[in-house]
Amino acid sequence: MITREQVMDRLATVMDPELHLPITELGMVDGVEIDGGRVRVGVKLTVAGCPLSTRIEDDVTRAVSVVTGVTGVDVELGVMTPEERETLAARLHPRRSSVITAKDSKVRVVICGSGKGGVGKSTVTVNVAAALQSMGRAVGVLDADVYGFSVSRMLAARQQPVVLGDGLIVPVDVHDLRVISMGMLVNEDTPVMWRGPMLHKLLDQFLNDVAWGEIEYLLIDAPPGTGDVAISLSQELPKARVVLVTTPQEAASRVAGRVAQMAGKVGQEVIGIVENMAYFRCPDCGKAHAIFGTGGAHRLARELHVPLLGQVPIDPELPAGGDLGEPIVWEHPDSESAKIFFQVAKAIDESGW
Ligand SMILES: Nc1ncnc2c1ncn2[C@@H]1O[C@H](COP(=O)(O)OP(=O)(O)OP(=O)(O)O)[C@@H](O)[C@H]1O
Ligand SMILES: [Mg+2]
Repeated sequence: MITREQVMDRLATVMDPELHLPITELGMVDGVEIDGGRVRVGVKLTVAGCPLSTRIEDDVTRAVSVVTGVTGVDVELGVMTPEERETLAARLHPRRSSVITAKDSKVRVVICGSGKGGVGKSTVTVNVAAALQSMGRAVGVLDADVYGFSVSRMLAARQQPVVLGDGLIVPVDVHDLRVISMGMLVNEDTPVMWRGPMLHKLLDQFLNDVAWGEIEYLLIDAPPGTGDVAISLSQELPKARVVLVTTPQEAASRVAGRVAQMAGKVGQEVIGIVENMAYFRCPDCGKAHAIFGTGGAHRLARELHVPLLGQVPIDPELPAGGDLGEPIVWEHPDSESAKIFFQVAKAIDESGW
């Protein structure tokens, strides 16, 4: 004899892929009927056409099938009413990302900053986030480069995020990374031409109205330089730590130094430097060639009294993976560059804070 309790116990193990909480806790279970060995489970999705509905359906079927005596599971998918979504948003409220800006926040916020554009900030953000995720950490990624967004492409996360109730944005799930980027809200070919106030409003929403859930890390891809967004980020997140991304050229590391100065002014700690495009390893002879020179990152690290966390080689796989939404850390974890990203992630994870 199958009992309702047995079924509910199993359903409590099914997590909503985006909200990262049991579907039972989210009010998504809409009735359980048992008829001999057959079990019917009603599941209410947050929105119609939820791209993850098949995954939820499979997870429910798998979870309930293991109850002794069950011969078949029927999952009936429905959709929450606007009122139910409001209730859910209210229930999630304490989990709002103000947990990130709050003074007593336990979330480790890492801002990837650089002086110059195009040095590989987004590549570093995405791969370090993916590495931390692979190490078992719960990680969010916030693309704060509103004009030059690229995280959505690099993680192939272009779908519109679900918005619950009073404007609570649910981050898009990418292999358990929780991701929010401007690229999910506008077409990639549409230039974003906002003035300051609009930009601030969006950034404020990204920082305060995203249901990150219980993340341990939030990695922020900041726009290059010391512009508006960088200043807002530093004001809103004084406890964030900064990782500076630079290339071997003198100029790039000198400009990165200015970003470090700004972080220092608002009390943000720079925890280290990642030198990107540090060398190219010849596939034929195996020798490392310092195409863009050497020494800049070491000198910056000495000046700032921070460690050089890693030197990432020039790797043709990186742009390819970035265009396909396949971070190298996941696709080729044994490659030379992936190993450096893991090394950086490990250093961040162990940098006692
Ligand atoms: N180590 C590397 N080897 C080869 N290509 C790389 C490497 N790092 C980054 N790239 C490529 O260089 C380009 C710029 O990188 P990325 O977008 O990460 O830089 P960014 O600093 O975020 O730039 P932006 O300032 O435009 O936001 C991308 O096409 C990326 O794939
Ligand atoms: Mg970028």
